[in-house]
Amino acid sequence: MIGKTMKAIRIHEFGGPEVLKYEDVPMPEVKPGEVLVRVKAIGINPPDWYLRDGYKALPPEWRPQVPFPLILGTDISGVVEAVSDDVQGFAVGDEVYSMVRFFSVGESRAYAQYVSVPVQDLALKPRGTDHIQAAGAPMSLLTVWQFMVEVGHDAPNPLQPERHEPVPLKDRRVVVNGAAGGVGHFAVQVAKLKGAYVIAIASGRHEALLRDLGADQVIDYTRTPPEDVVRDADLVLDTLGGAASRRFLSTLKRGGALFPVFPLGFNADDEAEELGITVSTAQVRSSGAQLARLAPLLADGMLKTVIDSTYPLAAARQAHERAAKGHIQGKIVLTVD
Ligand SMILES: NC(=O)c1ccc[n+]([C@@H]2O[C@H](COP(=O)([O-])OP(=O)(O)OC[C@H]3O[C@@H](n4cnc5c(N)ncnc54)[C@H](OP(=O)(O)O)[C@@H]3O)[C@@H](O)[C@H]2O)c1
Repeated sequence: MIGKTMKAIRIHEFGGPEVLKYEDVPMPEVKPGEVLVRVKAIGINPPDWYLRDGYKALPPEWRPQVPFPLILGTDISGVVEAVSDDVQGFAVGDEVYSMVRFFSVGESRAYAQYVSVPVQDLALKPRGTDHIQAAGAPMSLLTVWQFMVEVGHDAPNPLQPERHEPVPLKDRRVVVNGAAGGVGHFAVQVAKLKGAYVIAIASGRHEALLRDLGADQVIDYTRTPPEDVVRDADLVLDTLGGAASRRFLSTLKRGGALFPVFPLGFNADDEAEELGITVSTAQVRSSGAQLARLAPLLADGMLKTVIDSTYPLAAARQAHERAAKGHIQGKIVLTVD
């Protein structure tokens, strides 16, 4: 029997990790087209701390207005507890995973014991993976897939007027910057799976992992500036992005592409045009259909979620403090009893 309240992490104001409060909150309503999921694990992502902080990095006119109190988080793995009458394809007891309602700022509400999920954002959990691995995948893996393989939705791109288009990967030289992080470690694996020669850029302690994930070459950026040694790349996926993405223009061949995953601050479009390099970015969107197509790859071990660390839901503050220290290897995941 489900009670009327559940445990969740809420914020009542913007601020640092200390604003994350473990509280009793009302259970979510299950609206038409939705499924109630009993959450087992929650993957955490940079948008969680951008929102916690009040999106300080965005220009003021872009900062979303959100009502307090607010439950953070988007990525979950869990078990279906109830389904709305109009929902088909999911049943009570199914193990599922999801990136919930992204990009609807503040409406995902994943740092909780229960979350209501629109059925179009939901997929069956990859068989053979545990909830921690499944919860670590959605946002990072969907970002990689939508940047590098298949956009898979028609939502307008708020970051550029034109639609983002992936480029061919087979037999191409693909550079992944920030290769050990949430997005980066899936990018290395997807590029390898699609037949690319993969150059991974990360700090040295990640080298063994990145080779294990399929990197052909690993550059320790703390010793060697990648722009000094990489030439003739076909694609750079720069998971760090920002103004510093400009330095990758010299690593690309004419006709190549630079995808800054975090594009704010990038300001070298003229130079890119002169060099014949396409610069393109996108914003990830929820897609249960893509998660369903990716599930067999996760189930077969073709793609792996690397776990940096886990924390109980009640210790979300410590998880955010860990994230703030940087050098994340894979994903940080919250567990729920
Ligand atoms: N456009 C979208 O829709 C979208 C979607 C998801 C994420 N994002 C953005 O993508 C970015 C990355 O997200 P994430 O989840 O992958 O973050 P993350 O898990 O924190 O990974 C960042 C990685 O970058 C590495 N790094 C730090 N400084 C570096 C440097 N100078 N050179 C190379 N690597 C460096 C870190 O480890 P080491 O320093 O130890 O190598 C870490 O592994 C965030 O800004 C996020 O907001 C955008």
